[in-house]
Amino acid sequence: MSRNYKIAVVPGDGTGPEVVREGLKVLKAVSEISGFKYTLKEFDYGAERYLKTNKVLSDSALAEFKKFDAIYLGAVGDPRVKPGILEQGLLLKMRFGLQQYINLRPVKLYPGVWTPLRDKGPEDIDFVVVRENNEGLYVGEGKFIKKGTKNEVALQVSRNSRSGVERCIRYAFEFTRKRNKRKKLTLCGKTNVLTYAWDLWERTFGEVAKEYSDITTDYAHVDATCMWMVKNPEWFDVIVTDNMFGDIITDLGAMIQGGMGIAAGGNINPQGVSMFEPIGGSAPKYTGKNLINPLAAICALGMLLDELGEEEAATTIEKSVMHVTANKLKSLSAGKMGYSTSEVGDLVAENLSRG
Ligand code: IPM
Ligand code: MN
Repeated sequence: MSRNYKIAVVPGDGTGPEVVREGLKVLKAVSEISGFKYTLKEFDYGAERYLKTNKVLSDSALAEFKKFDAIYLGAVGDPRVKPGILEQGLLLKMRFGLQQYINLRPVKLYPGVWTPLRDKGPEDIDFVVVRENNEGLYVGEGKFIKKGTKNEVALQVSRNSRSGVERCIRYAFEFTRKRNKRKKLTLCGKTNVLTYAWDLWERTFGEVAKEYSDITTDYAHVDATCMWMVKNPEWFDVIVTDNMFGDIITDLGAMIQGGMGIAAGGNINPQGVSMFEPIGGSAPKYTGKNLINPLAAICALGMLLDELGEEEAATTIEKSVMHVTANKLKSLSAGKMGYSTSEVGDLVAENLSRG
């Protein structure tokens, strides 16, 4: 790939535009250091547009994203719009429609960052969750039986295809190998209760594992995973899990790494267009106040560059973020950082040359 990237930017709702602005500030600065080029195209999908047009994201608009090398997303969600409409119509539509079948969520405690886990430090909290991102309970299959009666039953289907599970597990093994840390991959499931879905996951995991003799494998039930993430996070290197469990355990992960202010994620289609986002949401109460922490969005930008093959630029950003957490910020929480949103962006941009 030439080092000239077409990046689609969707600032989205709430504090999305504020944090994306800081990410783009860092992008400009790091491109000058690393010597790559890029063009940006901004899209106004989100609550404002929906309220005006009553449409979220059409199929042809979705298809347009396929022309880009990557998508940079701010946040989705607005208190004026009924919950679910923007989440399903925009975020999930992009994840599914662009076949971003991996949701990659690093859980890494940076130096100087407060964690609620007493006695745990950056050497203990450094793992990555590989969340399946196109199937499971998120497919929206189900039905009501006798809706509105006292005998009502609601069914919500978790769909797990062999090919969908296998491509996710294969990605996780490859990722564990490339990451080259403890070379340990933990399957997080619920084999003791969800005996169809997790039978398929466990069988597939076992079969694929045979091709990766250099990787140590492990299994933990999702409830126990929550326990170990708090008690012994140092046990984890890479965790692979389904869509729903991945959603839940990565919020826990975000908390032990210092909060939503730092948690970033990538929605990855290894053969297509991937989308990167801070995972914290639109934080309506902080909107427009220049108080929200942009580090999660900046870290998401680092992941975007890494996926494009600009590993050096990604490392440069991460080192600068670490310098800022270790030496500058008082806290990662909105309004308590000791700096405004734009000042934090400036700090990361100014300290890039340290990398
Ligand atoms: C996330 C979010 C989304 C999810 C919502 C907003 C649909 O919680 O990215 O984790 O459930 O995947
Ligand atoms: Mn979530």
